[in-house]
Amino acid sequence: MFNKLSFKIGLLFFVFILIIETFLFFILYANLANNRIEEVMNSLLARGNTHRDVLEDHFDQPTLEHVGIMESASEFIVIITDEYGDIIISSDPVEEDMMDVVNHINNDEIPTEGKIVDDQWNEGKYIATDSPITINGEHKGHVFMFAKTSYVIRAVDQLSNQFLIASLVTVVLTIVTIFILSRFIAHPLIKMKEATEQLSKGNHNVELHTERKDELGELANSITKLSQDLKRLKTARNEFLASVSHELRTPLTYIKGYADIINRPDTSEEEVKEYVDIIREETEQLTVLIKNLFQLAKIDQNNFLIKRERVELCEFLQNIIERIRPVLAEKKILLHVDCPNELIVFIDPERFQQVLVNILDNAKKHSDGGSKISIEVKQTNQHITITTIDEGEGIHEQDLPYIFDRLYRVEKSRSRQSGGAGLGLSITKEIIESHDGSIEVQSEPGKGTSVIIKLVRGDLNE
Ligand SMILES: Nc1ncnc2c1ncn2[C@@H]1O[C@H](COP(=O)(O)OP(=O)(O)OP(=O)(O)O)[C@@H](O)[C@H]1O
Ligand SMILES: [Mg+2]
Repeated sequence: MFNKLSFKIGLLFFVFILIIETFLFFILYANLANNRIEEVMNSLLARGNTHRDVLEDHFDQPTLEHVGIMESASEFIVIITDEYGDIIISSDPVEEDMMDVVNHINNDEIPTEGKIVDDQWNEGKYIATDSPITINGEHKGHVFMFAKTSYVIRAVDQLSNQFLIASLVTVVLTIVTIFILSRFIAHPLIKMKEATEQLSKGNHNVELHTERKDELGELANSITKLSQDLKRLKTARNEFLASVSHELRTPLTYIKGYADIINRPDTSEEEVKEYVDIIREETEQLTVLIKNLFQLAKIDQNNFLIKRERVELCEFLQNIIERIRPVLAEKKILLHVDCPNELIVFIDPERFQQVLVNILDNAKKHSDGGSKISIEVKQTNQHITITTIDEGEGIHEQDLPYIFDRLYRVEKSRSRQSGGAGLGLSITKEIIESHDGSIEVQSEPGKGTSVIIKLVRGDLNE
Protein backbone atom coordinates (compact mmCIF):
# COMPACT_ATOMS: atom_id res chain seq x y z
CA MET A 1 0.00 0.00 0.00
CA PHE A 2 2.82 2.45 0.91
CA ASN A 3 4.66 1.55 -2.27
CA LYS A 4 1.68 2.27 -4.45
CA LEU A 5 2.01 5.07 -6.93
CA SER A 6 -1.41 6.48 -6.05
CA PHE A 7 -0.35 6.68 -2.40
CA LYS A 8 2.96 8.35 -3.22
CA ILE A 9 1.41 10.89 -5.59
CA GLY A 10 -1.40 11.55 -3.10
CA LEU A 11 0.97 12.00 -0.15
CA LEU A 12 3.22 14.34 -2.11
CA PHE A 13 0.28 16.47 -3.26
CA PHE A 14 -1.18 16.44 0.21
CA VAL A 15 2.00 17.64 1.90
CA PHE A 16 2.50 20.43 -0.65
CA ILE A 17 -1.10 21.58 -0.57
CA LEU A 18 -1.18 21.41 3.23
CA ILE A 19 1.91 23.63 3.46
CA ILE A 20 0.37 26.15 1.03
CA GLU A 21 -2.99 26.06 2.79
CA THR A 22 -1.44 26.47 6.24
CA PHE A 23 0.59 29.45 5.05
CA LEU A 24 -2.45 31.15 3.44
CA PHE A 25 -4.71 30.42 6.43
CA PHE A 26 -2.11 31.80 8.79
CA ILE A 27 -1.88 35.11 6.89
CA LEU A 28 -5.67 35.34 6.64
CA TYR A 29 -6.15 34.53 10.31
CA ALA A 30 -3.56 37.08 11.45
CA ASN A 31 -5.18 39.79 9.31
CA LEU A 32 -8.72 39.01 10.42
CA ALA A 33 -7.78 38.77 14.09
CA ASN A 34 -6.00 42.13 13.93
CA ASN A 35 -9.04 43.67 12.24
CA ARG A 36 -11.36 42.27 14.91
CA ILE A 37 -9.20 43.64 17.73
CA GLU A 38 -8.91 47.01 16.02
CA GLU A 39 -12.68 47.06 15.51
CA VAL A 40 -13.31 46.39 19.20
CA MET A 41 -10.83 49.07 20.26
CA ASN A 42 -12.18 51.64 17.80
CA SER A 43 -15.76 51.06 18.87
CA LEU A 44 -14.69 51.54 22.51
CA LEU A 45 -13.02 54.82 21.58
CA ALA A 46 -16.07 55.89 19.56
CA ARG A 47 -18.28 55.17 22.57
CA GLY A 48 -16.03 57.29 24.79
CA ASN A 49 -16.02 60.06 22.19
CA THR A 50 -19.84 60.06 22.08
CA HIS A 51 -20.00 60.48 25.87
CA ARG A 52 -17.37 63.19 25.63
CA ASP A 53 -19.38 65.05 22.93
CA VAL A 54 -22.50 64.96 25.10
CA LEU A 55 -20.53 66.19 28.12
CA GLU A 56 -18.92 69.01 26.15
CA ASP A 57 -22.47 70.27 25.48
CA HIS A 58 -23.81 69.67 29.01
CA PHE A 59 -21.02 69.43 31.54
CA ASP A 60 -23.26 69.16 34.59
CA GLN A 61 -23.98 66.68 37.37
CA PRO A 62 -27.19 65.12 35.90
CA THR A 63 -25.51 64.44 32.55
CA LEU A 64 -22.46 62.95 34.27
CA GLU A 65 -24.68 60.65 36.30
CA HIS A 66 -26.69 59.76 33.27
CA VAL A 67 -23.52 58.60 31.44
CA GLY A 68 -22.49 56.60 34.52
CA ILE A 69 -25.88 54.90 34.75
CA MET A 70 -25.89 54.08 31.05
CA GLU A 71 -22.51 52.30 31.18
CA SER A 72 -23.27 50.51 34.45
CA ALA A 73 -25.79 48.48 32.47
CA SER A 74 -23.34 47.71 29.61
CA GLU A 75 -20.32 45.44 29.59
CA PHE A 76 -18.06 48.49 29.40
CA ILE A 77 -16.88 50.72 32.22
CA VAL A 78 -16.65 54.48 32.11
CA ILE A 79 -14.60 56.71 34.45
CA ILE A 80 -14.88 60.48 34.11
CA THR A 81 -12.25 62.67 35.75
CA ASP A 82 -11.83 66.43 36.09
CA GLU A 83 -8.93 68.35 34.65
CA TYR A 84 -6.68 67.29 37.58
CA GLY A 85 -7.36 63.63 37.14
CA ASP A 86 -9.69 63.23 40.09
CA ILE A 87 -12.55 60.86 39.48
CA ILE A 88 -15.94 62.62 39.26
CA ILE A 89 -17.99 59.60 38.38
CA SER A 90 -17.54 55.89 37.45
CA SER A 91 -20.09 53.38 36.22
CA ASP A 92 -18.54 50.44 38.11
CA PRO A 93 -16.25 50.05 41.12
CA VAL A 94 -12.80 51.40 40.23
CA GLU A 95 -10.07 48.75 40.26
CA GLU A 96 -6.36 49.18 40.70
CA ASP A 97 -5.62 48.45 37.02
CA MET A 98 -7.99 51.27 36.07
CA MET A 99 -6.34 53.66 38.50
CA ASP A 100 -2.98 52.86 36.90
CA VAL A 101 -4.33 54.05 33.55
CA VAL A 102 -6.06 57.13 34.99
CA ASN A 103 -3.02 58.22 37.02
CA HIS A 104 -0.49 57.78 34.27
CA ILE A 105 -2.13 59.97 31.71
CA ASN A 106 -0.04 62.74 30.28
CA ASN A 107 -2.53 65.31 29.08
CA ASP A 108 -0.25 66.64 26.36
CA GLU A 109 -0.07 63.26 24.66
CA ILE A 110 -3.80 62.83 24.21
CA PRO A 111 -5.25 64.39 21.04
CA THR A 112 -8.72 65.96 21.20
CA GLU A 113 -10.20 63.12 19.15
CA GLY A 114 -9.11 60.67 21.87
CA LYS A 115 -6.68 57.77 21.94
CA ILE A 116 -6.42 54.09 22.81
CA VAL A 117 -4.26 54.21 25.92
CA ASP A 118 -4.02 50.51 26.77
CA ASP A 119 -4.17 47.98 23.96
CA GLN A 120 -2.45 45.08 25.76
CA TRP A 121 -5.43 42.79 25.28
CA ASN A 122 -3.52 39.56 25.76
CA GLU A 123 -1.65 40.68 28.92
CA GLY A 124 -3.64 43.08 31.17
CA LYS A 125 -7.14 42.80 32.53
CA TYR A 126 -8.58 45.76 30.58
CA ILE A 127 -8.10 47.69 27.42
CA ALA A 128 -8.69 51.40 27.74
CA THR A 129 -9.33 54.59 25.75
CA ASP A 130 -9.21 58.22 26.75
CA SER A 131 -11.36 61.01 25.23
CA PRO A 132 -10.39 64.41 26.66
CA ILE A 133 -13.20 66.94 27.37
CA THR A 134 -12.49 70.41 26.06
CA ILE A 135 -15.00 73.23 26.50
CA ASN A 136 -14.31 76.61 24.88
CA GLY A 137 -10.66 75.65 24.40
CA GLU A 138 -10.30 74.81 28.06
CA HIS A 139 -9.35 71.32 29.26
CA LYS A 140 -12.11 70.11 31.58
CA GLY A 141 -11.42 66.44 32.14
CA HIS A 142 -11.33 62.91 30.64
CA VAL A 143 -13.75 60.20 29.64
CA PHE A 144 -11.96 56.88 30.18
CA MET A 145 -13.60 53.82 28.69
CA PHE A 146 -12.58 50.31 29.79
CA ALA A 147 -13.46 46.95 28.30
CA LYS A 148 -12.45 43.63 29.80
CA THR A 149 -9.75 41.91 27.74
CA SER A 150 -11.84 38.75 27.96
CA TYR A 151 -14.25 40.59 25.64
CA VAL A 152 -11.52 40.84 22.98
CA ILE A 153 -10.31 37.33 23.66
CA ARG A 154 -13.84 36.04 23.16
CA ALA A 155 -14.03 37.75 19.78
CA VAL A 156 -10.66 36.27 18.72
CA ASP A 157 -11.64 32.83 20.03
CA GLN A 158 -14.79 32.95 17.98
CA LEU A 159 -12.67 33.63 14.91
CA SER A 160 -10.28 30.81 15.83
CA ASN A 161 -13.19 28.37 16.08
CA GLN A 162 -14.48 29.41 12.68
CA PHE A 163 -11.01 28.96 11.25
CA LEU A 164 -10.61 25.54 12.85
CA ILE A 165 -13.83 24.32 11.25
CA ALA A 166 -12.89 25.84 7.86
CA SER A 167 -9.41 24.22 8.05
CA LEU A 168 -10.85 20.80 8.88
CA VAL A 169 -13.32 21.02 6.00
CA THR A 170 -10.52 22.14 3.64
CA VAL A 171 -8.22 19.28 4.70
CA VAL A 172 -11.00 16.72 4.22
CA LEU A 173 -11.88 18.18 0.79
CA THR A 174 -8.18 18.20 -0.16
CA ILE A 175 -7.79 14.55 0.82
CA VAL A 176 -10.88 13.55 -1.17
CA THR A 177 -9.77 15.55 -4.24
CA ILE A 178 -6.25 14.15 -4.12
CA PHE A 179 -7.55 10.62 -3.67
CA ILE A 180 -9.74 10.94 -6.77
CA LEU A 181 -6.99 12.65 -8.78
CA SER A 182 -4.30 10.13 -7.87
CA ARG A 183 -6.64 7.25 -8.76
CA PHE A 184 -7.28 8.98 -12.08
CA ILE A 185 -3.53 8.92 -12.81
CA ALA A 186 -2.63 5.66 -11.11
CA HIS A 187 -5.51 3.51 -12.35
CA PRO A 188 -4.42 3.39 -16.03
CA LEU A 189 -0.82 2.79 -14.89
CA ILE A 190 -1.94 -0.19 -12.82
CA LYS A 191 -3.80 -1.53 -15.87
CA MET A 192 -0.67 -1.14 -17.97
CA LYS A 193 1.45 -2.85 -15.34
CA GLU A 194 -0.92 -5.80 -15.40
CA ALA A 195 -0.81 -5.83 -19.20
CA THR A 196 3.00 -5.93 -19.30
CA GLU A 197 2.97 -8.73 -16.71
CA GLN A 198 0.68 -10.67 -19.04
CA LEU A 199 3.10 -9.97 -21.89
CA SER A 200 6.06 -11.33 -19.97
CA LYS A 201 4.05 -14.42 -19.11
CA GLY A 202 3.65 -15.04 -22.83
CA ASN A 203 0.08 -13.89 -23.26
CA HIS A 204 0.31 -11.58 -26.26
CA ASN A 205 -3.39 -10.80 -26.56
CA VAL A 206 -3.15 -7.59 -24.62
CA GLU A 207 -5.71 -4.89 -25.44
CA LEU A 208 -5.62 -1.62 -23.54
CA HIS A 209 -8.65 0.36 -24.54
CA THR A 210 -8.17 3.99 -23.76
CA GLU A 211 -9.75 7.10 -25.16
CA ARG A 212 -7.17 9.30 -23.51
CA LYS A 213 -5.15 11.54 -25.79
CA ASP A 214 -2.47 12.38 -23.22
CA GLU A 215 0.89 10.69 -22.49
CA LEU A 216 -0.82 7.86 -20.61
CA GLY A 217 -3.02 7.18 -23.65
CA GLU A 218 0.06 7.12 -25.88
CA LEU A 219 1.81 4.72 -23.51
CA ALA A 220 -1.22 2.40 -23.51
CA ASN A 221 -1.27 2.42 -27.32
CA SER A 222 2.46 1.68 -27.44
CA ILE A 223 1.99 -1.32 -25.13
CA THR A 224 -0.85 -2.64 -27.28
CA LYS A 225 1.31 -2.24 -30.39
CA LEU A 226 4.23 -3.92 -28.64
CA SER A 227 2.05 -6.91 -27.78
CA GLN A 228 0.93 -7.19 -31.41
CA ASP A 229 4.54 -6.97 -32.64
CA LEU A 230 5.61 -9.63 -30.15
CA LYS A 231 2.80 -11.88 -31.32
CA ARG A 232 3.81 -11.40 -34.94
CA LEU A 233 7.46 -12.04 -34.15
CA LYS A 234 6.65 -15.19 -32.23
CA THR A 235 4.54 -16.57 -35.07
CA ALA A 236 7.22 -15.65 -37.63
CA ARG A 237 9.91 -17.32 -35.53
CA ASN A 238 7.87 -20.50 -35.16
CA GLU A 239 7.14 -20.62 -38.87
CA PHE A 240 10.78 -19.99 -39.69
CA LEU A 241 12.00 -22.72 -37.36
CA ALA A 242 9.48 -25.15 -38.84
CA SER A 243 10.67 -24.28 -42.38
CA VAL A 244 14.34 -24.59 -41.43
CA SER A 245 13.87 -27.99 -39.88
CA HIS A 246 11.95 -29.09 -42.94
CA GLU A 247 14.71 -27.76 -45.24
CA LEU A 248 17.33 -29.66 -43.27
CA ARG A 249 15.32 -32.84 -42.97
CA THR A 250 14.68 -33.30 -46.71
CA PRO A 251 18.32 -33.55 -47.92
CA LEU A 252 19.22 -35.62 -44.85
CA THR A 253 16.46 -38.08 -45.75
CA TYR A 254 17.88 -38.34 -49.29
CA ILE A 255 21.39 -38.85 -47.96
CA LYS A 256 20.29 -41.54 -45.52
CA GLY A 257 18.16 -43.26 -48.17
CA TYR A 258 20.97 -43.40 -50.74
CA ALA A 259 23.51 -44.44 -48.11
CA ASP A 260 21.22 -47.37 -47.19
CA ILE A 261 20.96 -48.41 -50.84
CA ILE A 262 24.75 -48.25 -51.23
CA ASN A 263 25.07 -50.51 -48.21
CA ARG A 264 22.92 -53.22 -49.82
CA PRO A 265 25.07 -56.09 -51.21
CA ASP A 266 23.17 -56.22 -54.52
CA THR A 267 24.01 -52.61 -55.51
CA SER A 268 26.17 -52.46 -58.59
CA GLU A 269 29.34 -50.38 -58.69
CA GLU A 270 27.79 -48.02 -61.21
CA GLU A 271 24.80 -47.41 -58.97
CA VAL A 272 27.12 -46.80 -56.01
CA LYS A 273 28.95 -44.14 -58.02
CA GLU A 274 25.68 -42.48 -59.03
CA TYR A 275 24.32 -42.46 -55.48
CA VAL A 276 27.57 -41.15 -54.03
CA ASP A 277 27.33 -38.27 -56.53
CA ILE A 278 23.79 -37.53 -55.35
CA ILE A 279 24.90 -37.66 -51.73
CA ARG A 280 27.73 -35.23 -52.54
CA GLU A 281 25.29 -32.88 -54.31
CA GLU A 282 22.89 -32.95 -51.39
CA THR A 283 25.72 -32.32 -48.96
CA GLU A 284 26.84 -29.33 -51.01
CA GLN A 285 23.31 -27.93 -51.01
CA LEU A 286 23.11 -28.45 -47.25
CA THR A 287 26.40 -26.60 -46.81
CA VAL A 288 25.10 -23.68 -48.90
CA LEU A 289 21.83 -23.64 -46.94
CA ILE A 290 23.62 -23.54 -43.60
CA LYS A 291 26.02 -20.86 -44.87
CA ASN A 292 23.07 -18.72 -46.00
CA LEU A 293 21.19 -19.21 -42.74
CA PHE A 294 24.29 -18.22 -40.85
CA GLN A 295 24.63 -15.09 -42.99
CA LEU A 296 21.00 -14.10 -42.30
CA ALA A 297 21.53 -14.65 -38.57
CA LYS A 298 24.51 -12.31 -38.73
CA ILE A 299 22.40 -9.71 -40.55
CA ASP A 300 19.73 -9.99 -37.84
CA GLN A 301 22.28 -9.42 -35.11
CA ASN A 302 23.67 -6.41 -36.96
CA ASN A 303 26.97 -8.26 -37.15
CA PHE A 304 26.99 -7.85 -40.88
CA LEU A 305 29.76 -5.54 -41.95
CA ILE A 306 29.66 -3.73 -45.27
CA LYS A 307 33.09 -2.69 -46.49
CA ARG A 308 32.39 -0.12 -49.17
CA GLU A 309 34.94 0.99 -51.70
CA ARG A 310 35.05 2.85 -55.00
CA VAL A 311 34.26 0.43 -57.80
CA GLU A 312 34.03 0.96 -61.56
CA LEU A 313 30.61 -0.63 -62.07
CA CYS A 314 30.83 -1.80 -65.72
CA GLU A 315 34.22 -3.41 -65.26
CA PHE A 316 32.97 -5.03 -62.07
CA LEU A 317 29.86 -6.42 -63.87
CA GLN A 318 31.97 -7.73 -66.78
CA ASN A 319 34.23 -9.64 -64.38
CA ILE A 320 31.30 -11.37 -62.72
CA ILE A 321 29.62 -12.14 -66.03
CA GLU A 322 32.73 -13.70 -67.50
CA ARG A 323 32.75 -16.10 -64.60
CA ILE A 324 29.06 -16.95 -64.94
CA ARG A 325 28.90 -17.10 -68.73
CA PRO A 326 30.15 -20.74 -69.00
CA VAL A 327 27.43 -21.90 -66.61
CA LEU A 328 24.83 -20.10 -68.72
CA ALA A 329 26.36 -21.40 -71.93
CA GLU A 330 25.68 -24.95 -70.70
CA LYS A 331 21.99 -24.11 -70.91
CA LYS A 332 22.55 -22.10 -74.11
CA ILE A 333 21.42 -18.90 -72.45
CA LEU A 334 22.73 -15.67 -73.93
CA LEU A 335 23.87 -12.85 -71.65
CA HIS A 336 23.86 -9.26 -72.79
CA VAL A 337 25.17 -6.28 -70.78
CA ASP A 338 24.40 -2.64 -71.47
CA CYS A 339 26.48 -0.36 -69.25
CA PRO A 340 27.62 3.24 -69.78
CA ASN A 341 31.34 3.45 -69.15
CA GLU A 342 33.13 5.12 -66.26
CA LEU A 343 30.43 4.68 -63.68
CA ILE A 344 31.94 4.80 -60.22
CA VAL A 345 29.92 3.30 -57.37
CA PHE A 346 30.67 3.02 -53.67
CA ILE A 347 29.82 -0.55 -52.74
CA ASP A 348 31.08 -3.67 -51.00
CA PRO A 349 32.28 -5.66 -54.07
CA GLU A 350 32.18 -9.05 -52.37
CA ARG A 351 28.55 -8.62 -51.18
CA PHE A 352 27.49 -7.13 -54.49
CA GLN A 353 28.93 -10.07 -56.34
CA GLN A 354 26.75 -12.28 -54.14
CA VAL A 355 23.70 -10.15 -55.11
CA LEU A 356 24.34 -10.53 -58.85
CA VAL A 357 25.13 -14.23 -58.60
CA ASN A 358 21.85 -14.81 -56.70
CA ILE A 359 19.80 -12.88 -59.28
CA LEU A 360 21.50 -14.47 -62.30
CA ASP A 361 21.23 -17.91 -60.69
CA ASN A 362 17.46 -17.37 -60.33
CA ALA A 363 17.18 -16.13 -63.93
CA LYS A 364 19.09 -19.16 -65.16
CA LYS A 365 17.06 -21.62 -63.09
CA HIS A 366 13.76 -20.25 -64.38
CA SER A 367 14.72 -19.63 -68.05
CA ASP A 368 14.51 -22.10 -70.93
CA GLY A 369 17.51 -22.99 -73.02
CA GLY A 370 18.13 -20.57 -75.87
CA SER A 371 16.58 -17.57 -74.14
CA LYS A 372 18.31 -14.32 -73.31
CA ILE A 373 19.21 -12.49 -70.07
CA SER A 374 20.13 -8.83 -70.25
CA ILE A 375 21.58 -6.48 -67.67
CA GLU A 376 20.94 -2.78 -68.14
CA VAL A 377 22.65 -0.09 -66.11
CA LYS A 378 21.20 3.41 -66.17
CA GLN A 379 21.98 6.55 -64.26
CA THR A 380 19.87 9.57 -63.44
CA ASN A 381 20.75 12.61 -61.35
CA GLN A 382 19.98 10.82 -58.11
CA HIS A 383 19.99 7.11 -58.82
CA ILE A 384 21.80 4.30 -60.52
CA THR A 385 19.59 1.39 -61.55
CA ILE A 386 20.78 -2.10 -62.42
CA THR A 387 18.01 -4.09 -64.11
CA THR A 388 18.27 -7.80 -64.87
CA ILE A 389 15.70 -8.99 -67.41
CA ASP A 390 15.06 -12.63 -68.27
CA GLU A 391 12.66 -14.33 -70.65
CA GLY A 392 11.87 -17.13 -68.26
CA GLU A 393 8.68 -18.55 -66.82
CA GLY A 394 7.89 -15.48 -64.70
CA ILE A 395 6.24 -15.30 -61.29
CA HIS A 396 2.50 -15.31 -60.59
CA GLU A 397 1.04 -12.16 -59.11
CA GLN A 398 -0.04 -13.94 -55.93
CA ASP A 399 3.55 -15.09 -55.27
CA LEU A 400 5.24 -11.75 -55.96
CA PRO A 401 4.72 -10.17 -52.49
CA TYR A 402 6.40 -13.15 -50.79
CA ILE A 403 9.46 -13.89 -52.88
CA PHE A 404 11.72 -11.84 -50.57
CA ASP A 405 10.51 -13.79 -47.53
CA ARG A 406 12.92 -16.20 -45.98
CA LEU A 407 12.58 -19.78 -47.21
CA TYR A 408 9.79 -18.83 -49.63
CA ARG A 409 9.78 -20.74 -52.88
CA VAL A 410 7.17 -20.59 -55.59
CA GLU A 411 7.89 -24.18 -56.51
CA LYS A 412 7.06 -25.92 -53.23
CA SER A 413 8.40 -29.36 -54.17
CA ARG A 414 12.08 -29.49 -53.59
CA SER A 415 13.14 -30.77 -57.01
CA ARG A 416 16.86 -31.16 -57.44
CA GLN A 417 17.07 -29.18 -60.70
CA SER A 418 15.42 -25.94 -59.58
CA GLY A 419 15.43 -26.50 -55.85
CA GLY A 420 17.01 -23.73 -53.87
CA ALA A 421 16.22 -23.05 -50.24
CA GLY A 422 14.37 -19.80 -50.87
CA LEU A 423 17.03 -17.69 -49.14
CA GLY A 424 18.75 -16.07 -52.13
CA LEU A 425 16.41 -13.11 -52.56
CA SER A 426 16.05 -12.40 -48.83
CA ILE A 427 19.83 -12.18 -48.48
CA THR A 428 20.00 -10.06 -51.65
CA LYS A 429 17.40 -7.64 -50.24
CA GLU A 430 19.26 -7.31 -46.93
CA ILE A 431 22.53 -6.56 -48.74
CA ILE A 432 20.92 -3.94 -51.01
CA GLU A 433 19.17 -2.30 -48.07
CA SER A 434 22.39 -2.14 -46.09
CA HIS A 435 23.74 -0.17 -49.07
CA ASP A 436 20.73 2.17 -48.60
CA GLY A 437 19.31 0.96 -51.90
CA SER A 438 16.08 -0.75 -52.88
CA ILE A 439 15.17 -3.85 -54.87
CA GLU A 440 11.97 -4.58 -56.78
CA VAL A 441 10.77 -7.46 -58.92
CA GLN A 442 8.36 -7.10 -61.83
CA SER A 443 7.15 -10.19 -63.58
CA GLU A 444 4.64 -11.55 -66.02
CA PRO A 445 4.06 -15.30 -66.11
CA GLY A 446 5.22 -16.77 -69.41
CA LYS A 447 7.05 -13.60 -70.46
CA GLY A 448 9.84 -13.08 -67.99
CA THR A 449 11.04 -11.33 -64.88
CA SER A 450 12.84 -8.04 -64.22
CA VAL A 451 14.80 -7.42 -61.05
CA ILE A 452 15.46 -3.70 -60.50
CA ILE A 453 18.14 -2.57 -58.07
CA LYS A 454 18.14 1.12 -57.27
CA LEU A 455 21.10 2.77 -55.56
CA VAL A 456 21.28 6.36 -54.38
CA ARG A 457 24.01 8.23 -56.26
CA GLY A 458 24.91 10.69 -53.52
CA ASP A 459 25.96 7.82 -51.29
CA LEU A 460 27.84 6.11 -54.05
CA ASN A 461 30.13 8.92 -55.05
CA GLU A 462 31.34 9.86 -51.57
N1 LIG B 1 13.91 -14.79 -62.33
C1 LIG B 1 12.96 -15.54 -61.77
N2 LIG B 1 12.02 -16.11 -62.54
C2 LIG B 1 11.03 -16.86 -61.99
N3 LIG B 1 10.90 -17.06 -60.65
C3 LIG B 1 11.82 -16.51 -59.86
C4 LIG B 1 12.88 -15.70 -60.35
N4 LIG B 1 13.61 -15.25 -59.31
C5 LIG B 1 13.04 -15.78 -58.21
N5 LIG B 1 11.97 -16.51 -58.50
C6 LIG B 1 11.08 -17.19 -57.55
O1 LIG B 1 11.26 -16.67 -56.29
C7 LIG B 1 11.55 -17.67 -55.33
C8 LIG B 1 12.49 -17.15 -54.30
O2 LIG B 1 13.78 -16.93 -54.85
P1 LIG B 1 15.09 -17.11 -53.98
O3 LIG B 1 16.26 -16.76 -54.80
O4 LIG B 1 14.87 -16.37 -52.71
O5 LIG B 1 15.06 -18.65 -53.63
P2 LIG B 1 15.59 -19.89 -54.43
O6 LIG B 1 16.24 -19.43 -55.68
O7 LIG B 1 14.43 -20.82 -54.55
O8 LIG B 1 16.62 -20.51 -53.42
P3 LIG B 1 18.14 -20.06 -53.18
O9 LIG B 1 18.32 -18.76 -53.86
O10 LIG B 1 18.23 -19.98 -51.72
O11 LIG B 1 18.99 -21.13 -53.76
C9 LIG B 1 12.09 -18.82 -56.13
O12 LIG B 1 11.75 -20.00 -55.52
C10 LIG B 1 11.42 -18.66 -57.48
O13 LIG B 1 10.24 -19.39 -57.52
MG1 LIG C 1 17.78 -17.98 -55.68
